[in-house]
Amino acid sequence: MNSLVDLNDFSLDEIEKILEKAFEIKNCPERFKNAMEGKILATLFFEPSTRTQFSFQTAMYRLGGHTIGFSNSLNSSVSKGEDLKDTIKIVSGYADIIVIRHPLEGAAMLASLFSSCSVVNAGDGGHLHPTQTLTDIFTILEYKRQLFNLTIGVCGDLKYSRTVNSLVEFLNRFKDNKFVLISNEDFKLSGALKENIEKKGNTFIESSSLKDSIKDLDVLYMTRMQKERFEQNQNKKEDLILLNEEILKFAKSDLAIMHPLPRTKEIDSLVDKDKRAIYFDQALNGVYVRMALILYLLEEEKEKKEMKEKKEFVCENKNCITKTEQYLPKYFREDENGVFCEYCGKMVN
Ligand code: CP
Repeated sequence: MNSLVDLNDFSLDEIEKILEKAFEIKNCPERFKNAMEGKILATLFFEPSTRTQFSFQTAMYRLGGHTIGFSNSLNSSVSKGEDLKDTIKIVSGYADIIVIRHPLEGAAMLASLFSSCSVVNAGDGGHLHPTQTLTDIFTILEYKRQLFNLTIGVCGDLKYSRTVNSLVEFLNRFKDNKFVLISNEDFKLSGALKENIEKKGNTFIESSSLKDSIKDLDVLYMTRMQKERFEQNQNKKEDLILLNEEILKFAKSDLAIMHPLPRTKEIDSLVDKDKRAIYFDQALNGVYVRMALILYLLEEEKEKKEMKEKKEFVCENKNCITKTEQYLPKYFREDENGVFCEYCGKMVN
């Protein structure tokens, strides 16, 4: 039984296989219309979603399968006080694959520990959003034909955006990529991720001006302010960095303008008609990628990740799932950089 919690648990060969299948499906979706006949996908969305939830449901229907689920946990027995472990145990008896989105970091990993069926992380707090990343890299491949030697601008809220974290981490697995980190002071990319870029031999520069930075970019990945993740009572300076037709005059003719969506105001809607704006195609690609992922998880054999309890460490991240679900085994990963919580990925002090 396979799950996708973190793309780092997948080798590049495995990811390539999923993406190849997604291209195959996009070219001829008809061939796959009965591939998941009799199978059930459950969507457990504890946070709002349009694209991820509906594209997973569409993907399962297009494969001939069925879906169950909720988009508001108030309509489930979680509202009566059921813990996440029990919810997952029950639903995994009804479904073949669970897709979970949750505001706490590590919730998808919890689900994978207690589920008797496959689990997909559809976003866990500000941590990861691996199926968005698969969609993003599929789209970059479609438009740029390569994932290396690219100058990638990520712009907006680089602090709280899980799509940015996941994408930068993934593209950092390829050589000669240069990251241009465009944000205001309060919304910079985490220090740990910047260190990782340098460790891998890739480079980054930081900028607060999209106009000054856009000319060198092959890919521009815009993001909205993730207000739902701002720390309480924190007075953030939210000067918007806006992409409009004026700024686009300075960009390359083959720039790929991407956005995981939803957008708020960071891309002027007049930009939509520019042929370089591919964010609506990107959202549609999410269906093909998720169809390929469902097939991969339910049809292929994959080795399970081994973890051992380490009771001597404590995760201090207040958004970590271990803070509310206190029965969880204490899983930590140690490497040359330190000790990290396996659930939320944060470093232990
Ligand atoms: N990109 C994305 O995750 O969109 P939704 O929040 O609408 O699912």
